[in-house]
Amino acid sequence: MKALHESQLSRFNLIHQGKVRDIYDLDAQHLLIVTTDRISAFDVVMPTPVPGKGELLSRMTRFWMRKTEHIIPNQLTAIQPADVLTADELAAVGDRVMVVRKFKPLPVEAIVRGYLVGSGWKDYQQNGSVCGHALPAGLAQAAKLPQPIFTPSTKAAVGDHDENISREQLVAIMGEDKTAQVEALALAIYQFAADYALPRGIIIADTKFEFGEDENGVIHLIDEVLTPDSSRFWPADQYQVGSNPPSFDKQYIRDYLESLDWEKKAPGPVLPEDVVANTLAKYQEAERLLTA
Ligand SMILES: Nc1ncnc2c1ncn2[C@@H]1O[C@H](COP(=O)(O)OP(=O)(O)O)[C@@H](O)[C@H]1O
Ligand SMILES: [Mg+2]
Repeated sequence: MKALHESQLSRFNLIHQGKVRDIYDLDAQHLLIVTTDRISAFDVVMPTPVPGKGELLSRMTRFWMRKTEHIIPNQLTAIQPADVLTADELAAVGDRVMVVRKFKPLPVEAIVRGYLVGSGWKDYQQNGSVCGHALPAGLAQAAKLPQPIFTPSTKAAVGDHDENISREQLVAIMGEDKTAQVEALALAIYQFAADYALPRGIIIADTKFEFGEDENGVIHLIDEVLTPDSSRFWPADQYQVGSNPPSFDKQYIRDYLESLDWEKKAPGPVLPEDVVANTLAKYQEAERLLTA
């Protein structure tokens, strides 16, 4: 498959270019989200795309949005890309494009953690808690938490890192009512997905959701959902408390980058073919297990 590093839908207004997504305005109610084959690591976009990643992420997001419709309405619409794009435009972006309803994004990255890993593990070692959630003493790295926890963070401006905030800080930003709704929704979607994935061989260690509201204040699921870019997926058969399990995500690229003399600042290094292929293989394995 030919890789797409950057989309060129010049007939539309590009309103945002993220690390992975190119977002265009379609009309007053809709956006065109193009999930490109770009991959970022350590917050730097790599110059080498991963061909097939954009389609895969789009498929997974659609999959999970349909699966969770009974919990929360979402951005999906019946409008097909072919309804709004020319044949040439469609050929250029392939199955990486989604026509979605435009909502007002809530100013929070709704992170849910089911396991003690990453920055949560660091926090726990220092403070015995994770983002202010008190936890039992003596938990080991990668331990399953007594119950999943909601650990919101701010949406950083481009180039900045997201910052964890307490529930109280989130209440100060968007009020108790919205905070309580987002918290309950994020936990419910996570629990549903974790229960779905586990018998299929995948542990969802943590994930991040984004929400948007319509003109009546009804909260919808937006952006990407439960992809390897927004989540930590662990192979259940290799899970061991006490060590950081291998995961179906960017760990492969991160490990490769750690082996280089690179300062984790843009520009990123060109990725060798085998690193690209192995990364895609991890993403594909996650998709196969989850959606087969
Ligand atoms: N349905 C939607 N309505 C409005 N905004 C959306 C919708 N879906 C996604 N977004 C916004 O699109 C942006 C994606 O940008 P960003 O996260 O920077 O891209 P990337 O994930 O590629 O780095 C987010 O700010 C998100 O809130
Ligand atoms: Mg994003």
